[in-house]
Amino acid sequence: MRCLAVACSPRKEANTSILAGEALAGAKKAGAVTEILYLTGYSYAPCMACDGCFKNGRCIVKDDAAFIFNKILEADRIILAAPIFSMSICAQAKMLIDRSQQFWAARYILKQPVVADKEIRPARRGIFISAAGTNLPGVFEGAIRIIQYFYKIMEICLAGCFCYPKIDRKGEIKNHPAALAEVFTAGMELAGS
Ligand SMILES: Cc1cc2nc3c(=O)[nH]c(=O)nc-3n(C[C@H](O)[C@H](O)[C@H](O)COP(=O)(O)O)c2cc1C
Repeated sequence: MRCLAVACSPRKEANTSILAGEALAGAKKAGAVTEILYLTGYSYAPCMACDGCFKNGRCIVKDDAAFIFNKILEADRIILAAPIFSMSICAQAKMLIDRSQQFWAARYILKQPVVADKEIRPARRGIFISAAGTNLPGVFEGAIRIIQYFYKIMEICLAGCFCYPKIDRKGEIKNHPAALAEVFTAGMELAGS
C-alpha cells in the first residue's frame, strides 16, 4: 500500500503541510509505504489549452508535472493538502490540477483508462485537507468542488475532506491537537481501508 501526500502550500511550516504530515504518519502506522511531495520543490507551467493532449492523452509540455502525476498514478492512497487562497485552492494546486487535462482527454476523448493496471490494484482512495484564515460561509466549497473533479479524473475515490477554518498564522495548526489527531486517524483509516 503506497500512500502519497501532496503538500501544495507555498510557505514553509504551512498549516496544511503539517496536517498532511500527520495524516501520512497515521498511514505509516497502518502499514503504508509513505512519501510526501512539496509542490514548491517542483517547476511546472500552467495548462496552455493547446489541446495537444487530445491526440494521445499526454501533455506536450515537458516539465516536473509529469513526475508529479506519475507519483500520483503509482500511489494507492492520496492525501492532497492545499490552503484556501482567494476563496479557492492555492494557485500551485490549481495549476497542477489544470495540467490533469491530459487525463480528462484520455478518459473522455480517447476513451482510455487513466490507471492502466486498475484491475490488479486496490481501488484508489484519497482525502483532502485544507485550512483557511476565516470561517466565512462556503469558504471551502470551491476547493472541495475542484478536488471532487480532480479525484474523479484521476480515478481516486474521495474518502473525506478535513477543512479547518480560522487557522491563519504559519504553524498555527500545531495549537489544535484535535485537528492533528483527526487527520492522523483519517490517514490511518485511509491506509487501513
Ligand atoms: C494569497 C492569500 C489568499 C488568502 N485568501 C483567503 C481567503 O480567501 N479566505 C480565507 O479564509 N483565508 C485566506 N487566506 C488565509 C489562508 O487560508 C491561511 O493563512 C491558511 O492557514 C494558509 O494555510 P497554509 O499555512 O497551509 O499555507 C489567504 C492567504 C493568502 C496568502
